[in-house]
Amino acid sequence: MKLLAGNSNGTLAKAIAKVLDESLTEAVIKRFADGEVFVEIQENVRGEDVFVIQSTSRPANDNLMELLILIDALSRASASRITAVIPYFGYARQDRKAGPRTPISAKLVANLITTAGADRVLTVDLHAGQIQGFFDIPTDNLYAVKVIQQRIREISGGSTDNICVVSPDVGGVVRARALAKRLGNVPLAIVDKRRPKAGVSEVMNIIGDVEGLDCILFDDIVDSGGTLCNAADALIENGAKSVSAYVSHGVLSGGAVERITQAKGLKKLVVTDSIEATDAVKGAGKIEVLTIDELLAEAIRRISNEESVSSLF
Ligand code: R5P
Repeated sequence: MKLLAGNSNGTLAKAIAKVLDESLTEAVIKRFADGEVFVEIQENVRGEDVFVIQSTSRPANDNLMELLILIDALSRASASRITAVIPYFGYARQDRKAGPRTPISAKLVANLITTAGADRVLTVDLHAGQIQGFFDIPTDNLYAVKVIQQRIREISGGSTDNICVVSPDVGGVVRARALAKRLGNVPLAIVDKRRPKAGVSEVMNIIGDVEGLDCILFDDIVDSGGTLCNAADALIENGAKSVSAYVSHGVLSGGAVERITQAKGLKKLVVTDSIEATDAVKGAGKIEVLTIDELLAEAIRRISNEESVSSLF
């Protein structure tokens, strides 16, 4: 097995390598003066089972091109199998024609990764499960919920008696219900969210009784933070005792860190390290980063050994 990392999340790649007791393959990844990506893998990979670790997070297009070019270099260097390990799969929110004359960019990105030469994909919490089917190569979609529920139990001191899991929108109900079940079938509530335009969210109603409960908002992506902050305020207005949020992918763009820090209703935000934390995230006392290194390392080990990964789901 060989592990290779792009520039998107070196910290997670190093942590995965450490868990697997492997070193990262030496490679030069640089930019020409005009911004073009150049890659040179500095170790022999002929006949190797190679895992390329790269999230297509911000800067999404640069990181995507790095991933494609790394895969191309490995393919031309005769690697026997190339697995694209994409902890955060960007472009996932463009998974359908949202209006006339709009693209399905998630499908295009899946095609690009396959055409570049990837044999498999390993990813975490795809925005929509059906994106798995956009790839015509085997794709394993892991769930961070196992790691997240452990952290919730640690923070709550083991007792989940007063917890209510809240889906921040109707689309996230299946995900939220899975967490509620893992926490011992705790109550579930749903935020009826409307998005009048991209990047703006409005809370219409809270479905379910949250009076006196410690609410856990559970989502796959936090981007501007609007969804979480608005939901937290509405939950407090509806009598919730406290509101914390647990999210798989901390996109946290624009003024999101500031917005979350200022949000009175939101006590804490926990994100995974599927996207490398910026200095602002690291410095925000309210935001905690939870690692998914062991989850990904175990999946990589099993794929390499041709073992089942289903028990990780
Ligand atoms: C939407 O379907 C997603 O699950 C997230 O709720 C959304 O991407 C969060 O975006 P923001 O933080 O910008 O409100």
